[in-house]
Amino acid sequence: MITNTELEYKGNLYPSGLISYEHDQDTINFISKNGVRLQVTVLRDNMLRFRYATNGIFENDFSYAIDEDNLHGFSHLDVSEDETHIIITTEKIICKVAKDDLRVGTYELNGKPILEDEQGFHWEETFEFGGNFVKMSKMSRDQENYFGLGDKPTNFNLKGKRLSLWNTDQYAFAKDTAELYKAVPFYMGLHGNSAYGIFFDNTFKTHFDFCHERRNVTSFWADGGEMNYYFIYGPQMSDVLTSYTDLTGKPELPPMWALGFHQCKWSYYPESKVKEIASKFRELNFPCDAIYLDIDYMDGFRCFTWNKEYFPDPKRMVKELESDGFKTVAIIDPGIKIDLNYSVFKEALENDYFCRRADGPYMRGKVWPGECYFPDFTRPEVREWWSSLYREIIGEIGVKGIWNDMNEPAVMEVPGKTFPLDVRHDFDGHPCSHRKAHNVYGMQMARATYEGVKKFNFPKRPFIITRANYSGGQRYTSTWTGDNVATWEHLWLANVQIQRLCMSGMSFAGSDIGGFAEQPSGELFTRWLQLGIFHPFCRVHSSGDHGEQEPWFFGEDVLEITRKYVELRYQLLPYLYTAFQKYVEEGMPILKPLVYYDQEDVQTHYRADEFIFGNQILVCPVQEPNVQGRRMYIPRGKWYNFWNDKLVTGGKEMWVDAPLDTIPIYIKEGAIIPKYPVQQYVDEVKMEEMSLDIYYKIGKENSEFYEDSHDGYEYRQGIYSHRTFKFTGKEDEMIIQQHKQGKFSAPYTTFKLKFHGMPFEIKRVFFENEEVNVEDLHYDKENQTMIVHKDFSELHIVGNSNGNTAE
Ligand code: GLC
Repeated sequence: MITNTELEYKGNLYPSGLISYEHDQDTINFISKNGVRLQVTVLRDNMLRFRYATNGIFENDFSYAIDEDNLHGFSHLDVSEDETHIIITTEKIICKVAKDDLRVGTYELNGKPILEDEQGFHWEETFEFGGNFVKMSKMSRDQENYFGLGDKPTNFNLKGKRLSLWNTDQYAFAKDTAELYKAVPFYMGLHGNSAYGIFFDNTFKTHFDFCHERRNVTSFWADGGEMNYYFIYGPQMSDVLTSYTDLTGKPELPPMWALGFHQCKWSYYPESKVKEIASKFRELNFPCDAIYLDIDYMDGFRCFTWNKEYFPDPKRMVKELESDGFKTVAIIDPGIKIDLNYSVFKEALENDYFCRRADGPYMRGKVWPGECYFPDFTRPEVREWWSSLYREIIGEIGVKGIWNDMNEPAVMEVPGKTFPLDVRHDFDGHPCSHRKAHNVYGMQMARATYEGVKKFNFPKRPFIITRANYSGGQRYTSTWTGDNVATWEHLWLANVQIQRLCMSGMSFAGSDIGGFAEQPSGELFTRWLQLGIFHPFCRVHSSGDHGEQEPWFFGEDVLEITRKYVELRYQLLPYLYTAFQKYVEEGMPILKPLVYYDQEDVQTHYRADEFIFGNQILVCPVQEPNVQGRRMYIPRGKWYNFWNDKLVTGGKEMWVDAPLDTIPIYIKEGAIIPKYPVQQYVDEVKMEEMSLDIYYKIGKENSEFYEDSHDGYEYRQGIYSHRTFKFTGKEDEMIIQQHKQGKFSAPYTTFKLKFHGMPFEIKRVFFENEEVNVEDLHYDKENQTMIVHKDFSELHIVGNSNGNTAE
């Protein structure tokens, strides 16, 4: 970082000694002799905001990322000073600002350093653009590791990496490609079993160096704007991540169908082809909830139009697909074709909605439709207009979801593949150049799309997917990892990228299963789909240039295996939906990388293959061809092999069999996993009974199960059901207690309990504290199942022990 800019000759400038400081409510302002102002705001006991103004004057305080509604304040704040420092103390941390040079350190209450400035804040003036390159350098501690930064296609642990954030259309990107589609300037550091987070809320091109340039220094800097960052203390990674999502927001619950299986291709057309694909899914009993229309559904790639030759009556088609359980999702790009006979273009032109170059001409660039102009989504009126354009496609035609693409923004055949930097943007009343607005352009497009789809799909829930995004964009949209390639390395990348997005507050994410570019072998497709069914967003997509990628294309064996896995996803939908609800309510990531799951175990710090799906299911994809198994790390605790119910003790690496029809899956002991029967699409069948798979344990474990009507907003009026199960197991006894909240009444009346690993024969059963006959609960000894009323509050089983030991 010290040698990164062209303007190096002017050198770095630093704050000098403190001349005064002032404490006003939650804010402490420091002024240095050379006019630098540092403002520290205490947002929560574990969250501080730092802003620096090099000449004492702050820019207007505005952020697209921050979700203002969510900051709840702090419980304790004390400001004092000693000879060398001003000391800010909250209920959880101490922050010291040096009188000499304004360098900052944060400490646990016992004095243990969390994060200390190395050079701290410094800057270089940029004469060309005005303003500064703003820089921050921090000490890295022994054994410190780093995680986060959105969709970066690199090692999960970022130590040793230097990365920059500048949203870029990277067709067929590779491992270590520096810049991808999203900018999430948030990372977590972990050392000595304590974690903290840094959110550098700066939309210019930002840079991060994790001990790459110097072994003991981590730094971040931006090509402009303010040094404006949030420091969040853990000590658990979950504390950091949930505080970060409180700060930048969480999405609303998606319709449950959006968690089903989706099939996409560039492109399915005409209508007969779309229908043929849809019918084939049904004919083969391969569950599927959504089918996608890529750019060819449009008239000459003009957004919000239809090619009437291919799709003569889209409303009828969408309706027919819907009657067979298929929701239609259609793509909308930002580039608007220059064509005075095209109403969207004309309207935007007349209202001056398009972006302009610095000297006045419109920003003109080539995308799929040819030469285009581009709406300035950073202007509120433009977003309002854009959202109104969804009236027909959503409100009248009945398309259920919108896919926003090319919104980095991508421009073809030009250096940099995007807008020139002089392009002007409104930035919600803070006019600026593209240098500042570039990284939020896609986010603001997705935001306008979300508003529109929500309005015209009401009272149903909206579903949006975007390629480009910025921190906070998770409030509006899901995402995918863009134009990957059908290679084994990309399968590895998809696994790392989705875990990383989950660790960066953007859990609703998936990859193009099978690879977008090139064509996978049947084996690669199978392995990828086995992983993909555990990703929050699960879609097969491919480029039309390379042949077919429907599950039946690879032959009977692949079809059988992949069907089995998609069926498993449908069975696990209530479990996934529950994990989604925890993400929406608490910001819990839907996938938990092992380091997040057990940060105290240093074995997890460099592991990225294995992850926890939801709270209690451990998954480890096979990422190589021609193997019959693999070594994997089982985290601490005891886990049941999902395939044979064998119990293993974790905290060690072991060989696991995984022939082509098997992906290693383990269930945490004590877990209670809700399962649906297989359906061809969400809500195909009326649920008559819900299964609960119960994995015996000696000890206690809690599980949750959230339900509602799967779409619509009644859940916000309390029409949901949130069940907590408390499992307690002893040598010869097991108790399951249930606590239910919410007013939703599910269509079924009973739970079918299935016991796994129960080490004794049942002798006596107590239901709601009364002894009952096991036959009354339809106990099936061979299958270890029992049927109970869904609203039971306690089931107590007493048996004779005959042992159950872990490997
Ligand atoms: C971009 C998208 C891809 C899409 C294609 C055509 O490459 O990333 O998903 O299929 O454009 O619209």
